[in-house]
Amino acid sequence: MKGIILSGGAGTRLRPLTKVTSKQLLPIYDKPMIYYPLEKLLSAGVKEILIIVAPDHCGDYMKVLGSGKEFGKDVRFTYEIQDSPDGLAQAFILGENFLDDGDNVTLILGDNLFEADLTDAITNFKGGATVFAKEVPDPERFGVVKFNDQKQAELIIEKPKEFISNFAVTGIYIYDNRVVEVAKSLKPSARGELEITDLNNWYLNQGELNVEIMDGDWIDAGTFESYYRANEWAYNRAKK
Ligand code: DAU
Repeated sequence: MKGIILSGGAGTRLRPLTKVTSKQLLPIYDKPMIYYPLEKLLSAGVKEILIIVAPDHCGDYMKVLGSGKEFGKDVRFTYEIQDSPDGLAQAFILGENFLDDGDNVTLILGDNLFEADLTDAITNFKGGATVFAKEVPDPERFGVVKFNDQKQAELIIEKPKEFISNFAVTGIYIYDNRVVEVAKSLKPSARGELEITDLNNWYLNQGELNVEIMDGDWIDAGTFESYYRANEWAYNRAKK
């Protein structure tokens, strides 16, 4: 299993904090934000990790994270630049060479913090795709999954305008190697992005999407309110 951390984007919602740095390098209590998703991959045994960054901040990421050596034996980081934030699914097009040995891949968003231990899901992954849903009070901010009466996923909609369910799709996704070709076949959405939700719906339509309910806390630290909450969460956990 390989890992990709998507850490690009312009961070416009956190201006002026992101005027001179990348959102995912901002501190969350005692560490840069990206350490949290990175540690999730490392603790699940993922050692080869591609970090995708925006052009302006590439050097800063290399300074902060380096080759990977500092994070453990055999840990190896590769970097790719995403010229413009054209969508989450573009990670697999940028990662085509990184994934050319046919490996499975876990994608994690650089601004997402998780409490759950994802080791079993990652190490026991056999194929298709696995995503994690979590009940939230504000589903209109996310990709949202609708379940049928048998509790099977029926449909995923990106930022639904009409209520379909309270289950948001969180920012960690596990795919088999077909994801590269599927990403290449996607067309940009109305907002001009290659949507991760379209990728997930492709696997859903094949009958190969596994949706697990995520335990524990999940914070997408992309707004001032959630960024502040992420700091409090990290502080409380460190104190424990
Ligand atoms: O947080 C989970 C949600 O993430 C999912 O529920 C949604 O289905 C998914 O589309 C995504 O929604 P967001 O609106 O939160 O995506 P956002 O544009 O904020 O991007 C998420 C992170 O990925 C953010 O840290 C910036 C980075 N990013 C984003 C885009 C569009 C990139 O590195 N490159 C990109 O092209």
